[in-house]
Amino acid sequence: MALPRLHARTSTPRSALGVSRRGFVGLLGAGAATAGVGAVAGAPLAHAATPSGSGLTSASLPAPSSPAYWDAVRRLFMLDKDILFMNVGTVGSPPREVLDRVDNVHREVAAGAIAAYSNFADVREVAARGYGCDPDELVVSHNTSDGMSKIIAGLALKEGDEILTTNHEHSGGNVPMALARDRLGVVIKRVALPVGNDQRAEDYVALFRKAITSRTKVLLFSAPTYKTGTMLPIRMLAKLAQEYGLTTVVDGAHIPGMMAYDFHELGVDFLAGSAAKWQCGPGGTGILYIRNKVIAAHNPNPLPEFWPVVSSGYPSEGGRPARSNGPTASYDIAADLQSVGNGSLAVMAGVREVCEVWDRIGRQRIQDHVLGLSSHLRELVVERWGVKSLYSPKDDPRLVCALTSFAPFSDPRDVFDGQKTTKLVQRLKDEYGIVIRTSDFPVIGSAKPHSVIRVSTHLFHQKADVERVVNALWTLSRDMS
Ligand SMILES: Cc1ncc(COP(=O)(O)O)c(C=O)c1O
Repeated sequence: MALPRLHARTSTPRSALGVSRRGFVGLLGAGAATAGVGAVAGAPLAHAATPSGSGLTSASLPAPSSPAYWDAVRRLFMLDKDILFMNVGTVGSPPREVLDRVDNVHREVAAGAIAAYSNFADVREVAARGYGCDPDELVVSHNTSDGMSKIIAGLALKEGDEILTTNHEHSGGNVPMALARDRLGVVIKRVALPVGNDQRAEDYVALFRKAITSRTKVLLFSAPTYKTGTMLPIRMLAKLAQEYGLTTVVDGAHIPGMMAYDFHELGVDFLAGSAAKWQCGPGGTGILYIRNKVIAAHNPNPLPEFWPVVSSGYPSEGGRPARSNGPTASYDIAADLQSVGNGSLAVMAGVREVCEVWDRIGRQRIQDHVLGLSSHLRELVVERWGVKSLYSPKDDPRLVCALTSFAPFSDPRDVFDGQKTTKLVQRLKDEYGIVIRTSDFPVIGSAKPHSVIRVSTHLFHQKADVERVVNALWTLSRDMS
């Protein structure tokens, strides 16, 4: 079992951390110096974050039943009060207590010149708890794109192998797939995704099933897609993949912090997400899940061959044991991926802190809130613009998320006018102080892509914000028609 060797490598604090014993022990305390790298990366630097701003923290929120609860949640954030920010799908905003924590640790690290050659076991443990997986399966990556790149580069794909994916993927997945195609001769096949409210989860499964061939090795899809906010049915697609012995890779950029998913229950092999969008962690952070054991109830298939292509944790001699074929991991593969040269104690402390904030508020409570708002938004869109304007699903609860895309103009020809849509989004910002974004994508049966708008509803929003954006868009779109 190679696990002890990894720890031997990463838990040599005085030499590997590159700081003097005096400096290290002086800052962290002698107990911490013997506690291992996991402790170095987390608790010993944990001077309580001194809340700036309102002084409110996630530990001092009113009871969730209080009418003031979500307003208090909003006050945890330092978003510009003059702007209604509804583009969380692009980037989130860390709560004050997270910023304070990052700032404090940055300063302590600077004062002590502390290095962090670590696999950050303590941060992974806290994060894994919130995502329903084990620490040996959870890597804090740099972002979704980083996670997707490491997954695709780490799979043992060869010439002629097919990746079955969709026509609504983000470059975060498309680029590493293109690299596998151009470097290895891997073939990329795409199913064309329908848009709007007319689909059910089963329709997507049928689409993928029809496209699987004897050469298909990987099923790769975004859930939700960033184009239309369609939450492809992950569990059902994972089951389909298991039936055909395929590896599942989910671009889950928008999952962490939005959906209260238990990653084990999803039954997938890999999921890459952002920690800086809906999870509102520090910039340049992501969540990468790698199934590291056989989970009889959710994914009984053997683990796919996988190599940690960017790693300082992988042993320079002797390799790793075979991946587990049972319920217990044969080694901590996440530690191999997490250990890459000198890391950032401050950023990692921020990720740990924001995971704790989310756990304190309650991930299910957050999911219910953000989906409640997006459902309200869709109902209002249907009332004003009609159901045909929706490019996101509405009626099948298995397909919805907190991203909503719709056509804002009453003339159907305007979906081909990307400039007009861009102008609307700009005017919404300039004249109403509301930030959303455009979304462009191919549509089945249309020679040209459609250009619509996308609105994100998150935990710092309330119903009144949804009504405000709808009213502003209604007025503006009529003015521009
Ligand atoms: C579906 C999807 N994948 C990947 C990305 C890239 O995300 P990141 O900046 O975390 O790499 C995005 C960004 O919006 C996205 O929407």
